[in-house]
Amino acid sequence: MYCTKAITNDITWVGADDRRLALFEGVYGVRDGVSYNSYLINDEKTVLFDTVDKAVSRTFFENLAHALNGRALDYLVISHMEPDHAATIDELCVRYPKVRIICNAMSRDMLGRFFSNGLTERCTVVKEGDSLSSGKHNFSFVMAPMVHWPEVMMTYDSTEKVLFSADAFGSFGALNGRIFADEVDFMHDWIDEARRYYTNIVGKYGSQVQAVLRKAATLEIDYVCPLHSFVWRRGFGDFLEKYMQWSAYKPEEKGVLIAYASVYGHTENTANILAGKLSDLGVTVKMYDTSVIPSSYILSNAFRYSHLVFAATTYNAGIFVTMEDLLHDIRNHNLQNRKVAFIENGSWAPTSGKLMREIIEPLKGTQVIGDTLTLRSSLRDDQLGELDVLAKLIADDIGASPIPKPVEKAVVEQLEVANEAFFKFSYGVEVVTTKVGGKDYGCVINTAAQVGSGSPKTVTISVIKNNYTCEMIGKAKRFNISVLTEEVPYALLKRFGFQSGREVDKFEGLDYDNRMTNGIRYIPEYTNAVFSCEVIGSFDVGSNMLFIANVTEAKELSKAPSCTYAYYHAHIKPKKAPAAPTKEGYLCKVCGYFYEGSELPADFVCPLCKHGPDAFEHIAPPKVKMVKGFVCQICGYFQPYDGDKLPDDYLCPLCSHGPEYFTPAEQPAQ
Ligand code: FEO
Repeated sequence: MYCTKAITNDITWVGADDRRLALFEGVYGVRDGVSYNSYLINDEKTVLFDTVDKAVSRTFFENLAHALNGRALDYLVISHMEPDHAATIDELCVRYPKVRIICNAMSRDMLGRFFSNGLTERCTVVKEGDSLSSGKHNFSFVMAPMVHWPEVMMTYDSTEKVLFSADAFGSFGALNGRIFADEVDFMHDWIDEARRYYTNIVGKYGSQVQAVLRKAATLEIDYVCPLHSFVWRRGFGDFLEKYMQWSAYKPEEKGVLIAYASVYGHTENTANILAGKLSDLGVTVKMYDTSVIPSSYILSNAFRYSHLVFAATTYNAGIFVTMEDLLHDIRNHNLQNRKVAFIENGSWAPTSGKLMREIIEPLKGTQVIGDTLTLRSSLRDDQLGELDVLAKLIADDIGASPIPKPVEKAVVEQLEVANEAFFKFSYGVEVVTTKVGGKDYGCVINTAAQVGSGSPKTVTISVIKNNYTCEMIGKAKRFNISVLTEEVPYALLKRFGFQSGREVDKFEGLDYDNRMTNGIRYIPEYTNAVFSCEVIGSFDVGSNMLFIANVTEAKELSKAPSCTYAYYHAHIKPKKAPAAPTKEGYLCKVCGYFYEGSELPADFVCPLCKHGPDAFEHIAPPKVKMVKGFVCQICGYFQPYDGDKLPDDYLCPLCSHGPEYFTPAEQPAQ
């Protein structure tokens, strides 16, 4: 049965997922599978872009037959001759004997070598800039050598502004019923596999990728259709930016990858101690044991981080085998511009440090930090200082700041800190918004302030760490601030303030989708100004994260007065009708959430508005005087009586039963 997906009215995905493949290209584990994409254009002529791997040929041919709906196949365009996309070309030509193959000269040569049944005679050879029309659709061909083989060719459909991008912009991972990248949180859930795919498949060919990106920059593109993974129709800029970084061998993050090879744990122990020291200095660290983690994952993270530390024992007078494999993999993938350090171990003749350095140092732009640390079996006490020096050198090079110690709580608790006093600050009320992986996030804050008036101007915002928006700003490193006016309705504040972006789409149901030039939404109603900001620093202040940011764009939207936090409390926040509490607990003064219990945990966070214990007031129901007595088990009558048992001659005034039918009880006094 067919299983196709519509891309546009004319373009249908006729590819297939493979989740049984253990190793892609025989080397890369793909535990989440892989997709082989093929696209059919139904125009006056029918045009197919590439076939699929042999393993999924049955699904592919069923999909193709369904999408053709009885029509003949006129053209097959070959983007790439690697058999994961070309293995079924011969069977395609048997099933569709009139199909004409459109390819470049190198693909035609490869076709003749992969297959021996005269397929080359069907070929129409095209070159850079040549074009083809299928009726309504006009295609032009863009050569993309070495992305990932020399014959690779992309095609641009100027009618629907589609780039058929071959292996570029693909990823490992099957599609799981989705087809568009904006149907998943790609930049959050898929980017690691996309990086592993890029770095391992085409990481070596950065300059060729850059050349193709320069050509693509001249095209107006609405859709990107790669040969693996999702089709892009919106939010492509974030992913394109990653490609720019990866292909230029620029690290994505300042941080340290530590890869270690350790036979009996002593080298690993040293790596762990170094990681601890780096972490104390505020450096992000990612560690991998080369004996456990396949090198494709470590290579991918070597492209991600700015600094690399390799620690390996000496083995057979060389480098321990799994580390040697990794280093050759990194060398063969042409990684550049990294700061590296080495730790070697050897009980009698340590040589691995020198040998590791010989493999890595020739890579362009490589800088070695510090001296190779030599272990003789294990780290000695007097070598801890050497690790301190190495950690400090790396942290200084990164520009890391030690993680600040939490504020001493005892000092705060000794003094009175009245919550109401903070309402006197003339804070504004704002909605801060950001975007990650094509999804929009936002929350209410009352902490935006200008802190620098130079060029660019600088602002700060402080966001509660438990807010999902805080996490997303940390990832996106950019945000917009919408400054709210006094007319703002409580419903808007509830929408962005009293629910979590983890569970709901806070923008759902809004009838506007206004965005600044950075692509991030803002609130156009009840807003008098909007700012676009790029994060330049952040500081953990315990409950909140303080972001410092440059303003890249700012607009005044109206002259209406800004809503202050005091105005919100006085005029917007609904007044609660005083009601006699019936249970003991704690009431959130910000959103009205009630926590039932006699003690509020010190680390409690309001599940609605995310404020901490300071925002809660203790509510205790009035004490009720209880009266001791006995209750009749027959009719329920309560007889007040302060004694151990009712008199023997007592009779219930309602049902006339004697004291043997009464049990002790207490009731509130009337
Ligand atoms: Fe997906 Fe280079 O083949």
